[in-house]
Amino acid sequence: MSKILVTGGAGFIGSNFIRLLLQRGGHQVVNLDALTYAGNLESLADVANEPGYAFVKGDIAERDQVEAVFAAHRPSVVVHFAAESHVDRSVLDASAFVRTNVMGTQVLLDVARANGVERFVHVSTDEVYGSLGATGKFTESTPLAPNSPYSASKTGSDLLVRAAFHTHGFPCLTTRCSNNYGPFQFPEKLIPLMILNALDGKSLPVYGDGKNVRDWIYVTDHCSGILAVMERGRDGEVYNIGGNAEKQNIEVVKTLLGLLGKGEELITFVKDRPGHDLRYAIDNTKIRSELGWEPAHSFDTALRETVDWYRSNAAWCGSVRSGAYRDYYARQYDAR
Ligand code: NAD
Ligand code: TYD
Repeated sequence: MSKILVTGGAGFIGSNFIRLLLQRGGHQVVNLDALTYAGNLESLADVANEPGYAFVKGDIAERDQVEAVFAAHRPSVVVHFAAESHVDRSVLDASAFVRTNVMGTQVLLDVARANGVERFVHVSTDEVYGSLGATGKFTESTPLAPNSPYSASKTGSDLLVRAAFHTHGFPCLTTRCSNNYGPFQFPEKLIPLMILNALDGKSLPVYGDGKNVRDWIYVTDHCSGILAVMERGRDGEVYNIGGNAEKQNIEVVKTLLGLLGKGEELITFVKDRPGHDLRYAIDNTKIRSELGWEPAHSFDTALRETVDWYRSNAAWCGSVRSGAYRDYYARQYDAR
């Protein structure tokens, strides 16, 4: 049985990953999370009392706190999700992104290496590759060319992970995934924001002309990909993860309105995001051929399930859309 330290486990993808690990069994899981605006323990309420699970509130950029977790729990594997994750917030203020994504990752690498961790899985994003034109896909050898403060800080973390492997022989692996959707996603991101606005009869703010393309993957498919990399990936390697579901934003928004039985008059085209990447698309050949991973969900079915989840979980949605969310929403959208 291995003991796995999951950072950022109270966030969207981390909470889904912890649930998957506990369902699989055979692992003890320690969740280290600072509980920022994006971290919510209600996302793990169903597993909070399981014997193989422990939660520690702590900040990955605070070395003392990270050392204390390693001393108390002695994990042999780290799966690193903790990050500031929203592009629009990084446009408003990049400082927390540099602190957590860059400095926090280095602290975690240092402490994990000093404690003899056997495997360090770094969860990253396809946004490190920058933007595609109308054709082509990101492979693992596409040059890194981040365009937003968020993706630049994630690129910094990817390079620190690469350096830990090359310089110290520390056994690190990196995953780079496309846009996720599914249960427990904070409603600042496109899909949950549009679902909750539509349910409230509020306008749906589409940036620019709505023709930017994202390549969508259901969150549990991302999690099964990370698990495959954790169990069978090769040290020092990067694995792209993507679900082969490219859509223009406007198409996603119209599909959501259809699923919710709402009219397209709710759509409002607003001022574009500065530096808005045009298109992302993942070539997932490497993880499929090397590790035998495949996404299990189609976009149409999983999007319907996601809409149903947000409809049925009004308490979770209410609690994450607190005063702080309303302040952010006003700052981000009122002047657009
Ligand atoms: P999220 O914003 O929902 O959750 C991030 C979690 O990290 C929160 O629980 C937060 O409290 C925690 N955290 C933030 N700063 C911390 C700190 N200093 N110390 C400890 N914990 C801290 O993010 P997410 O969407 O679940 O993304 C998780 C990871 O996956 C991130 O690294 C992100 O870059 C990557 N990723 C996300 C997507 C996506 O579509 N959401 C796609 C590819 C990769
Ligand atoms: P987002 O969910 O923020 O993910 P990312 O920027 O990391 O890809 O945005 C997905 C796409 O949706 C992106 O092209 C920006 C667009 N978008 C809107 O049009 N309106 C919105 O209110 C938001 C949050 C995003």
